[in-house]
Amino acid sequence: MFFLTTAIDYTNGSPHIGHAYEKVLADVIARYRRLAGEDVYFLSGVDQHGQKVQQTAEKEGIHPATYVKKTTKKFSKLWEKLGVNYDGWAETMDERHKACVQSILTDLHDRGQIYKKGYKGFYSIRQEQFLTDRDRDEAGNFGPEWGEVTEIEEENYYFKLSEHTDWLKDFLENSPDTILPAFRKSELLNALDRNTGTDLCISRPKERLRWGIEIPFDTDFVTYVWFDALINYISFIGYKADPSLPVFDEIWTDRPVHIIGKDIMVPAHGIYWLAMLHAIGFEDGKIPQLLVHGWWNIRGEKMSKSLGNIVDPMELADAFGVDALRYYLVRDIHTGKDSDFDLDRLVMLFNTELANELGNLCNRALNMSQRFTEGIITPGGPLTADDKELQKSLTESTAAYRKAMQNHEISKGLEALNNHVVHCNQYAERMKPWELNKNLENKERLATVLQHLAESVAHCAVLLSPILPEASGKLAAQLNLPGLMDLKLDDLKWGLIPSGHQINKPKPVFPRIEIKPKED
Ligand code: MSP
Repeated sequence: MFFLTTAIDYTNGSPHIGHAYEKVLADVIARYRRLAGEDVYFLSGVDQHGQKVQQTAEKEGIHPATYVKKTTKKFSKLWEKLGVNYDGWAETMDERHKACVQSILTDLHDRGQIYKKGYKGFYSIRQEQFLTDRDRDEAGNFGPEWGEVTEIEEENYYFKLSEHTDWLKDFLENSPDTILPAFRKSELLNALDRNTGTDLCISRPKERLRWGIEIPFDTDFVTYVWFDALINYISFIGYKADPSLPVFDEIWTDRPVHIIGKDIMVPAHGIYWLAMLHAIGFEDGKIPQLLVHGWWNIRGEKMSKSLGNIVDPMELADAFGVDALRYYLVRDIHTGKDSDFDLDRLVMLFNTELANELGNLCNRALNMSQRFTEGIITPGGPLTADDKELQKSLTESTAAYRKAMQNHEISKGLEALNNHVVHCNQYAERMKPWELNKNLENKERLATVLQHLAESVAHCAVLLSPILPEASGKLAAQLNLPGLMDLKLDDLKWGLIPSGHQINKPKPVFPRIEIKPKED
């Protein structure tokens, strides 16, 4: 089973374009793997505990549970709108998750992996973590990234992270594919060197934080939000849990892929989570791969509430359509790298690559077939060098697309697909079906040209389906081939459209986005 997860989003606010990117990326990968014939389980969800939630709820004068229920809806509504089709949904307030977290805590405590000690030092409320001198900047201060920093003295429970760091270092050094893309691995190894010898504080006293999962062996404490949140990846697929959940062993059969942003690789996923799994007893062959994506920035700056530059994905989907947004989010960024969110580019990429190129191909193939051959597709006469070239282009583009998609490089996959679309449009211009139609003698040749274009549309509809499932479905309907959407990649052979097949009336699937000039 290919088990894919995303980070669970904090529910102390509203979803922004960064959240939307991660979910769409995961959805595209999950759909692609299904298309490749794999069994897929895609888990996503929300992170509902922690101090930030408690503080915001207090400000609004409501219970944290009421507050997170309200914000959780904003996330799930957005995923529905964007066609993000997960199989499992994690909400960390869920009693079944709580039971799993508590059972893991009890087990680690019984095995001496958790101990209690006193601590006096600095604490960042924004990051919900203790700070050390290593977190100070060159001037010796705690920088603005930590938000409000207070000095506290308290007893807490600690997980013996330091007992697992040698294993982790060794494991990462010998595993070329745990951190994807590979260029992030050195960042993690450096962080690990800095972290050696430190244990992880996994509790918060209830006087300071009530909104969390109670420590099962000491009711004065709740669990640190990250320790709780990370466990979602196993609790919601049935690890040590309720029979109403899926069967863990059927889903975590191999190495899952966790999709996360670059800010939460160190230390949360790359150190804490991998060490936690090792401590719980996961074998090396079951340790997840971390697919670490970059950030969407705005004109080179981080998106943030304080800068007031947050982009709301729901508004964009309403204004430009779900297809345009999904396409842009995976087209204009290289997985792993950062990118600048730019509305002009969203419109430009949709208009050039979808409306002009792919839209034009569909229009030509389907419209001209309706007008010139009564909508009947028949492979005509002998193949010319141009026809063979087109078929070769399709084979090569499909291979390049598959290679890129398998490596989670969606933008490259789309480029490969677009190369074939461009090839088809150039072929149409050279073959001029509209001229061929003027002379009855060319009937056979005309049929062959139109068949090559229509066959290309059928292949493109399948290949595009992980990225734009709705549009692909519309193309399949216009081709009158509803079964197209059930095909797998290995079924993609030349001849998807049977000879003599009648297509349906075409209708533009990618209408250009027209921006009206602003009135002064
Ligand atoms: N709740 C934690 C994750 C716990 S996972 C066990 C969290 N939540 S978050 O809401 O702050 O972020 C959720 C995901 O969105 C993270 O993977 C984060 O990297 C990603 N992004 C947040 N802002 C982003 C951008 N501007 N661009 C791309 N992704 C970004 O962290």
